[in-house]
Amino acid sequence: MQAVLELLKRHCTPHTTDILMTHGKMIAGKALLACANVNADGDTRRLVIEAAYLHDIGVCRVDAPEIGGNGSEPYIRHGVLGREILEAEGLPLQALFCERHTGVGLTIDDIVSQNLPLPHRDMTPQSLAERIICYADLFFSKNPDRLEQEKPVEKIRKSLARFGEDKVAIFDGWLREFGG
Ligand SMILES: [Fe+2]
Repeated sequence: MQAVLELLKRHCTPHTTDILMTHGKMIAGKALLACANVNADGDTRRLVIEAAYLHDIGVCRVDAPEIGGNGSEPYIRHGVLGREILEAEGLPLQALFCERHTGVGLTIDDIVSQNLPLPHRDMTPQSLAERIICYADLFFSKNPDRLEQEKPVEKIRKSLARFGEDKVAIFDGWLREFGG
């Protein structure tokens, strides 16, 4: 955990580091419950814990002063920016979580149809560990006032429904798989 903290400190402001450590603790807790429900192996659990703390590292390069992000890029790009940071740090597996955790994952069609400022590639979670982090992340905000409040399932469904019922269906599938 010390290595994760050092990594966050090296790239992020102290305010962002504090937020990501608390956010990471909440995501790790929820994700480890999901791991228990599917009998995930030790490698998956270890990866899930690291990814819980690192998946949002890219917010340090976006324009999001309320969470300490002092960059100039739009928020939606925090995933791809995080991937770049972790790949440069020699963490290619952890890097994939960064760009594969927005909503229930972004398809190329989502990126094109919403005209998002992102590369045209599939950004949906693929591995079990990536799906678990994406699932767990839906339950928690990075708003400093609500970091430790778990969102109700209905609220998550409602916000996903804005992007299509297919997104809600993916979440419902994860609830059955991981919710226990
Ligand atoms: Fe997150």
